[in-house]
Amino acid sequence: MTKSYGELVAVSDLSFEVHEGEIYGLLGPNGAGKSTTLKVMMGLLKPDKGTTKIFGIDSQEDPVGAKSLVGYAPEEKSLYESLTARELFEFVASVRNIPEQRCNQRLEEMVKALDFQEHVDKMIVTLSAGNKQKALLISIMLHAPKLLILDEPFSGLDVRTARIMKEVVKIHTQNGGSVLLSTHIMEVAEGLCDRIGIIDDGKLVGQGTMTELRTQAKEESATLEQLFLRLTGQEDEVEIGIDSLKEALQE
Ligand SMILES: Nc1ncnc2c1ncn2[C@@H]1O[C@H](COP(=O)(O)OP(=O)(O)O)[C@@H](O)[C@H]1O
Ligand SMILES: [Mg+2]
Repeated sequence: MTKSYGELVAVSDLSFEVHEGEIYGLLGPNGAGKSTTLKVMMGLLKPDKGTTKIFGIDSQEDPVGAKSLVGYAPEEKSLYESLTARELFEFVASVRNIPEQRCNQRLEEMVKALDFQEHVDKMIVTLSAGNKQKALLISIMLHAPKLLILDEPFSGLDVRTARIMKEVVKIHTQNGGSVLLSTHIMEVAEGLCDRIGIIDDGKLVGQGTMTELRTQAKEESATLEQLFLRLTGQEDEVEIGIDSLKEALQE
């Protein structure tokens, strides 16, 4: 798939596949093209070339069908602040056409699993960051999606909420679901993902399991961090950065 914004090629001939039941991490520096890729998958942006498919459904030809199988958390986590969490869930359920009984049952399970009972009737604006994140998670999982697409799900989360987020991701795959997430944080990719695709400048520059990437790292460089920096062409930049930092801090 290729996607440009005017002259700028944000994603260039990118190709990858997420296997059923796995956590796949798109790892890459800021501006690498991760969010663009996920937005195309959600049918929010039109690619210039190529296609994205969700369980065989083309995101452009049948965006509603594709989206019905996905729970998507965008990078900009804006919720309707003046609704209560319950109103948000009801709104999502009506947009998604989820039958009331099924929705209520699912809601009850999710609310209990995330220990959210006492916050359901509070206005979203009054919730802590952690509880807002829980509300978002519940709202994107109400229709029991088979695939979760999470854009930078760990940025800005405190330790406890990050832990909950990780558990949700793990339990979802243990139940047979799949997860595609993006991150620029190496530790997230390393600790959570079954397979990682390293993306830079809109291209896939490396892909594999942690073990595969580690083997590659040992052969080519000392650490995975170095491999990542090398694959994304940042190795020299970082060296230069450190040298000028040392100089500046000496003054
Ligand atoms: N709406 C837009 N209009 C123009 N350029 C954009 C837009 N969105 C993203 N870009 C550019 O496309 C490139 C990829 O961005 P993005 O997909 O957001 O990367 P990532 O999520 O990996 O940080 C960046 O150079 C970014 O500045
Ligand atoms: Mg992004």
